[in-house]
Amino acid sequence: MTASIEITIDGRSVGVAAGTTILGACRSIGADQPTLCYLENLTPVNTCRVCVVEVAGSRALVPACSRRVEQGMEVRTDTERVRHSRKMVYEFLASSVDLSLVDDATRDWMTRYGVDPDRFGPPAPPAGDRDRRNAGHHADPALDAAETVAQPVKVHDELYVRDYGKCILCYKCVEACGPDAQNTFAIAVAGRGFDARISTEFDVDLTQSACVYCGNCIGVCPTGALMFRSEFELRKAGVWDESAQTVTRTVCSYCGVGCNLELHVQDNRIVKVTSPLDHEVTSGHLCIKGRFGYDYVQELGDDLATTPIDVVLASVRGRDGAA
Ligand code: SF4
Ligand code: SF4
Ligand code: FES
Repeated sequence: MTASIEITIDGRSVGVAAGTTILGACRSIGADQPTLCYLENLTPVNTCRVCVVEVAGSRALVPACSRRVEQGMEVRTDTERVRHSRKMVYEFLASSVDLSLVDDATRDWMTRYGVDPDRFGPPAPPAGDRDRRNAGHHADPALDAAETVAQPVKVHDELYVRDYGKCILCYKCVEACGPDAQNTFAIAVAGRGFDARISTEFDVDLTQSACVYCGNCIGVCPTGALMFRSEFELRKAGVWDESAQTVTRTVCSYCGVGCNLELHVQDNRIVKVTSPLDHEVTSGHLCIKGRFGYDYVQELGDDLATTPIDVVLASVRGRDGAA
């Protein structure tokens, strides 16, 4: 039998199983906390710090997503110190990273904390190729503008794109590519400080790296930095429309493992594939076939040389009369 631990959260007594995190205890009573680097199917890495709370007796703020409850713990989630810290994290991120595609929950938390990234000044012009920066060689920062991670989108193949101007360095993709799912270790964090970025080994092109195109990094990315090429092209054409999409759960037909797929369909075309995080077989992770190998259920028409992305775009444009 699992021991029950008694703690208080904002003065309210809560009993949870030993091993539960503070975040889990908060969620068990409906007191949700913001997160960015946390995901149910990944090991917490504590990089973003938007989930911090106060714990009586602890000098520093504590990350709720990874700290496990202890008997008698007194947790406070909405003090001035907590709100200030969370607001600063969001402001630093929003002043330097394109957060235009974060989820609604994150937007709501930023509004609640009165996040004002503009107070750091306008965005500074992009300062050279971030992928080529050497650790320890920093340019002088602009004093009247906010340095950003803006950079060109990497569109190198038909499967997915990498837009690191939207990357908050949450490490989720690194975890999913590494020990939490794929064990391929094709990507890691290179550089230090503001120059830190997600990179393949020696910054080689993805096709030359260890990447096996499982797409598990896309499945966990919270900001849209990693995106299906099909979604990227539809967004660029202005016809990506989640309100017009259906999501159908099915079982992958390639092998006998039994991974579940969620087929996102717009205008009778599959536009991306995800997998439910709570599924017992693969916890939301897939292989290249389940993630990208759906062309055989799409009508390619007479011109078999047409790429799936072109077909999707042609279909949606035909419906909307879009350019
Ligand atoms: S597609 Fe798979 S193997 Fe390639 S970088 Fe992403 S998680 Fe790693
Ligand atoms: S690419 Fe996405 S998942 Fe990877 S570190 Fe950046 S924001 Fe996180
Ligand atoms: S969600 Fe807890 S540190 Fe990022």
